[in-house]
Amino acid sequence: MAYENVCKQSLLGEGELVPCKVGDKEIVIMWPDGGEPKAYDARCPHEGVSLGRGDFNGRILYCIAHGWVFDGRNGRCLQPEGWQMTEYPMRFEGGMLQVDLGDD
Ligand code: FES
Repeated sequence: MAYENVCKQSLLGEGELVPCKVGDKEIVIMWPDGGEPKAYDARCPHEGVSLGRGDFNGRILYCIAHGWVFDGRNGRCLQPEGWQMTEYPMRFEGGMLQVDLGDD
């Protein structure tokens, strides 16, 4: 696959979680306070509920389904440990956010 346009860069803000669609796939752009924005598969690694509806406070993302807790800087699951949100390569090009979903 290759990089695809997702949304305007100006729609993203530090400390925010932005759900987006790429084709029929839902992703989230998570930009932690003091960190860098990163793109992730929106499906929670627990049972696949959308993390686009999660509760993000700028540091920590809470899944609304069963309360799993993710580190906003890297998508690592803090509670329970041993899980990880799936990250995709992203870049900014001509004022657009672009994501490479690979073979998904
Ligand atoms: S689906 Fe997210 S915690 Fe269960």
